[in-house]
Amino acid sequence: MGKYTITVLPGDGIGTEVTEQATRILQVIGDQYGHTFTFHRALVGLAAIQAEGAPISDATIALCEQSDAILLGAVGGIPQPDAKIKPEQALFRLRKGFQFFANLRPVRTHQALLNASTIKPEVLQGTDLIVARELTGGLYYGHLEPSVPSKPSEIRQTAQGYEAIDTLLYTEAEIERILRVAFDIARGRRKKVTSVDKANVLSSSVLWRRVANRVASDYPDVTFEHLLVDACAMHLIRHPSTFDVIVTENLFGDILTDEASMLAGSMGMLPSASLGTRRTAHGIFGLYEPIHGSAPDIAGQDKANPIASILSAAMLLRHSLGLNREAEAIEAAVEQCINAGYRTEDLREEGKEVVGTKEMGRHIADAITRIPV
Ligand code: IPM
Ligand code: MG
Repeated sequence: MGKYTITVLPGDGIGTEVTEQATRILQVIGDQYGHTFTFHRALVGLAAIQAEGAPISDATIALCEQSDAILLGAVGGIPQPDAKIKPEQALFRLRKGFQFFANLRPVRTHQALLNASTIKPEVLQGTDLIVARELTGGLYYGHLEPSVPSKPSEIRQTAQGYEAIDTLLYTEAEIERILRVAFDIARGRRKKVTSVDKANVLSSSVLWRRVANRVASDYPDVTFEHLLVDACAMHLIRHPSTFDVIVTENLFGDILTDEASMLAGSMGMLPSASLGTRRTAHGIFGLYEPIHGSAPDIAGQDKANPIASILSAAMLLRHSLGLNREAEAIEAAVEQCINAGYRTEDLREEGKEVVGTKEMGRHIADAITRIPV
């Protein structure tokens, strides 16, 4: 019987629709297991730019800081690469500001969804991996620190025309802490870590490999391998079931997890947790969000798949609130609904019932109430 405060940042597009279902599920969990969840809702992304003049306000950051965890929907509208203020900056401020350096993205294939993927069922069979993506370093963060001249990220004019530069910088300490997270996770799973880099080209990857080898020697019980990122992209769709924990830098992790989402059938299935080292009274302070974006093309049509957001809420219960049983109930309910044949538009399949966002949420909520407490 606990009392928990969660800051909910629905954001833009389908973000508002999927978080509505995720909070509904948390409410049902609260009723079933006797917990009280207090939700503080605030604006983020384009919605915040339009109403408050910034992608995320100081007041919203303070609200996040005072809560046990953050549940985020999605940010962004139609991409406007030239805009000075971008919705995505909210994500970077949250990730960097709270030092959420470890982004965990589990990818599991569901038996009943094997045919929903574009990849052959026999290749997908048994896939159960997790990507530990470094989230607060690398190419993403040059522009956030313009005062650091050694980390430029800019377009500049020269006598020969424009040129552009981004900086891929990693410190030893940044590499080490994400590697340790990966090895610790592997110990609770199938005990295998694949470190992904581009050490045949990039200096940052040469350092990454050196640090990875050193960390690996502290975990002799864990099988360890290096893989170049291009080869990893290939192996992911060739024999995905051979992976257990994949650990990689920020941009590689971004790209590989969109690819990996196709193993699960749709981006709409993949949750994520972003964690740092700060602990609350209940667990690790964290940010939870689907890996998908705001999908402006289907926003407001009750078509989005709420499962990624609902599974993110399950991760929130597990990591930030220490509520394992409740997290498992959500995951079991999702599995049951998939097995029962309910599919949102993104997973449309012959002979299966296509349901809307709200109806999928309702089926999952009903399934939870049928799971014995
Ligand atoms: C993700 C997204 C973000 C990222 C975008 C929206 C900036 O693609 O969380 O994977 O690149 O990190
Ligand atoms: Mg991405």
